[in-house]
Amino acid sequence: MSKREVALIDLGRQHAELRSEIDGAIAGVIDSGQFILGPEVSAFESELAKACHSKHALGVSSGTDALLVALMALGIGPGDEVVTTAFSFFATAGVVARLGAKPVFADIEEHSFNLDPAAALAKLGNATRAILPVNLYGRLATLPQADVAIIEDAAQSIGSGPVRGLAACYSFFPTKNVGALGDAGAVVSDDEDFADRVRLLRTHGARPKYVHAMVGGNFRIDALQAAVLRVKLRHLQSWTKARQDNAARYRELFANATLPASVRIPAHSEDHVYHQFTIRTPRRDELQAALKAAGVATEIYYPHPLHLQECFAELGYREGSLPHTEAAARESLSLPIHAHLQEDDQAYVVEQIAAFFR
Ligand SMILES: Cc1ncc(COP(=O)(O)O)c(C=O)c1O
Repeated sequence: MSKREVALIDLGRQHAELRSEIDGAIAGVIDSGQFILGPEVSAFESELAKACHSKHALGVSSGTDALLVALMALGIGPGDEVVTTAFSFFATAGVVARLGAKPVFADIEEHSFNLDPAAALAKLGNATRAILPVNLYGRLATLPQADVAIIEDAAQSIGSGPVRGLAACYSFFPTKNVGALGDAGAVVSDDEDFADRVRLLRTHGARPKYVHAMVGGNFRIDALQAAVLRVKLRHLQSWTKARQDNAARYRELFANATLPASVRIPAHSEDHVYHQFTIRTPRRDELQAALKAAGVATEIYYPHPLHLQECFAELGYREGSLPHTEAAARESLSLPIHAHLQEDDQAYVVEQIAAFFR
């Protein structure tokens, strides 16, 4: 196959297809003059709750703020511990630290890249107030069975089914499976009291206006983003199916390619919505450079595990503390998998990978 450019994501194409609907949604908000909360946000929330087969959805300002406000709704603060994974985007642990609580990192499962439930249970102590698993790359984490609140970091797993713990926190960062035209997020829960605390906390804890029983913040989603997301949510099922079909095609292409046994393809899992299709190889950095030279964009999510970040040095983790996490950070490489990816682009990607190892 002759050289081509394969992008990690093609938002231009997605937006070209939806452009008139998006323009209409934005114009509707401008004409309504209702930019903060209001009918677009309420409609978005009920459509999102339905799409997540869950009772309550609250639109918030970002995926980070979804996690932050969910922990605030649990009253988490100084002296509390939250057990989580170090193989995630920084926000997962950052929100815990910002509340003055302590992130406690447990190792991941090698095959799924997700928090190992047994390792998480081993880290529970008297101060544990929540477990925060991440559905990394869009694959559902196996939840630990424990008598403690579970908040799912579902930033990458929209479309994978109902909320399983107390709450699931979504991100609509532009490159997510459903992306806003800027920052946005949501907290989804079946628990009415919890959802109500989130609702209160996202507007400074005020109820009625100017009366504050709790200290919250401004964590509101913009009505403009809600209106755009309503357009995109209508495509959630077909986009998810396209990603799952692409994953199946990659598996077939990889099965027919000759690759060393050290190259590992992600294990199949029914609920996986393939935010990423992430392979492993000990020669990751060389492979990434070769793919770049061949015109194939790839990304490393995430090269520096959270337990070894300078800002968490006082937590006392060392190189070797979480072996599976550290190996994943050295070996994982995410390939293009977006809903608009073409079949021959995928064939080209696998051909280039096979050529590198020949
Ligand atoms: C796993 C994970 N958690 C949290 C976030 C934070 O979401 P946001 O960027 O919308 O604040 C992201 C996305 O960036 C993420 O991938």
